[in-house]
Amino acid sequence: MVSWGGAGRTLGVLLLNLLLRLGSISCDSIPVYAAVNKSVTFHPSHHMPFKEILWKKQKNKVIEWENSEFKAFPPFIDRVHLDPVSGNLTIFNLTSSDEDEYEIESPSITSPTKFFLYVIEPISSLTLTCILTDQNITVQCEIPEHDNSHPGLLKYLWDCPSEQCKDNSASEVYFDMESDYSQKIQCTVSNEVSTKTSSITLATCFGNPSIYFSRSRIFLGLTVLFVLIVSGILLGMYAFF
Ligand SMILES: *[C@@H]1O[C@H](CO)[C@@H](O)[C@H](O)[C@H]1NC(C)=O
Ligand SMILES: *[C@@H]1O[C@H](CO)[C@@H](O)[C@H](O)[C@H]1NC(C)=O
Ligand SMILES: *[C@@H]1O[C@H](CO)[C@@H](O)[C@H](O)[C@H]1NC(C)=O
Ligand SMILES: *[C@@H]1O[C@H](CO)[C@@H](O)[C@H](O)[C@H]1NC(C)=O
Repeated sequence: MVSWGGAGRTLGVLLLNLLLRLGSISCDSIPVYAAVNKSVTFHPSHHMPFKEILWKKQKNKVIEWENSEFKAFPPFIDRVHLDPVSGNLTIFNLTSSDEDEYEIESPSITSPTKFFLYVIEPISSLTLTCILTDQNITVQCEIPEHDNSHPGLLKYLWDCPSEQCKDNSASEVYFDMESDYSQKIQCTVSNEVSTKTSSITLATCFGNPSIYFSRSRIFLGLTVLFVLIVSGILLGMYAFF
């Protein structure tokens, strides 16, 4: 009895979880990615002819089609196109404030179709920077701050002969001091609307004077000191004789 009750409850909980999960899947919006200044089309999967259509951005109307008349609402006036046959909504000249959830409403649609629009900056450039520490060489792959509105959507890919480049999805990669400095290191960054690639040779990390500090500074310091001492001695000798 007791174990049956327990099993029944467990089964009930499992079923409830399953239903909740199915429910949340069908309510979830379809992600759509588009670049700033470009256009996007939402395509509702639907087969019955429409009699009227309303597209909404959250609670706000985008465009309405009723009695064969179109009415667009700010800030979408002159920036949207609605095809009443397919229900397709196209938005032109996308700005970051268009990023939101969109939904089509019509008596002909039984289950709601929602889209979540991500408006993404194309990656304009990549910079590879090396940092020398006592233990290792760190190569960082960076994109301009301005292009980084969706850090979660960035994908990093490294290519070099060393093991640490394989399956590495971090924005930086480490090399120990015994590495082969002649190897070429390539970083590729992509988001849903663009891809950029850049590469350096590990040896170039040592060509940058601001990074190649420790040994060269000490060497420079010693040289200056030596020159001062020698010239001091020479001057002293000159004064003496
Ligand atoms: C989008 O267009 C505006 C105005 O034409 C321009 O200033 C901006 O650089 C463009 N942005 C992108 C990512 O193309
Ligand atoms: C509606 O949009 C989809 C996806 O962009 C496209 O494949 C389809 O051709 C469009 N249909 C019409 C009638 O514009
Ligand atoms: C997009 O904006 C530019 C100016 O910023 C304008 O010339 C162009 O006509 C617009 N495109 C659309 C489809 O509205
Ligand atoms: C390389 O050096 C950095 C900074 O000193 C450290 O955080 C990192 O763990 C090191 N990585 C390896 C593989 O030695």
